[in-house]
Amino acid sequence: MRKKPKITVIGSLNMDLTATSAKRPAAGETILGERFDTFPGGKGANQAVAAARLGADVSMIGMVGQDAFGDELVRVLEQEGVRTDHIGRVDTSTGVAVIQVVGGDNSITVIPGANFQLTPASIKEKKDVIEASDIILIQLEIPIETVAAVAAYCQEVNVPYILNPAPAQALPTAIIQQASYITPNESEAAVLFEDTNEALREFADKLVITKGEEGIIYSGGTIAAFPAQAVDTTGAGDTFNAALAVRLASCSQLADACRYANAAAALQIGSPGAQAGMPTHQDVTTFMRQNGENPL
Ligand code: RIB
Repeated sequence: MRKKPKITVIGSLNMDLTATSAKRPAAGETILGERFDTFPGGKGANQAVAAARLGADVSMIGMVGQDAFGDELVRVLEQEGVRTDHIGRVDTSTGVAVIQVVGGDNSITVIPGANFQLTPASIKEKKDVIEASDIILIQLEIPIETVAAVAAYCQEVNVPYILNPAPAQALPTAIIQQASYITPNESEAAVLFEDTNEALREFADKLVITKGEEGIIYSGGTIAAFPAQAVDTTGAGDTFNAALAVRLASCSQLADACRYANAAAALQIGSPGAQAGMPTHQDVTTFMRQNGENPL
């Protein structure tokens, strides 16, 4: 039997408070919405769930508060088979994300709370977990000093890491240079790089820019997205990153891993909330074949 890739996700856990409405309220306006949901989320936790569904052995390093949201987020990860023993509990509220979904598209405000207690010092204790991983997945909903510490340590012990630079912020050059892969969307890429075409050349085979329904671009060109009907795009980027990690850790070439990740993301956006629609490996390979692609 094929060995399960070992993936460690270092990042946020948030409770998503999601309002769905027919339009976005303007400043000062009150509107009536269609529905309200609380969904488990956070870019880190979403990527952990997606990677586990796709068949990886996943550990999550993160922080939640000693509150009901924290209990629920850890419970959901355990239910998904993610190892949660490296999630700390602190005396700060669990992170929340206030999400507005209109016509399938989202806008998100994150209140990091406990996620910002994931300090470089707390990462120091996790070096053995990092070292035992095939690949690390990290995002920017935790302190930037922690991302820098992980980047330096990954380089020291020669463990590849995928940096999903979301939400957008300018980054120290070392973090970008040390990353094995960087996966901004278009607006994040515009914050990171003055000229994205030049960046694609400079970071050939490392920079993958996601463009939603237009697919992705990397130094080898464009890889088209799969046709999909978006119900809620929250978590599509997380699914893409997790699927990319799973395939790269299984020794796929970058372009093949991106095709697989595009398929996973297309399946995920068909359901409300970030995690509910995340596909299994079987779902992805079936969908790729149905669309005339060889899953490899
Ligand atoms: O990427 C989607 C996620 O971003 C949501 O689940 C929300 O928690 C924010 O972190």
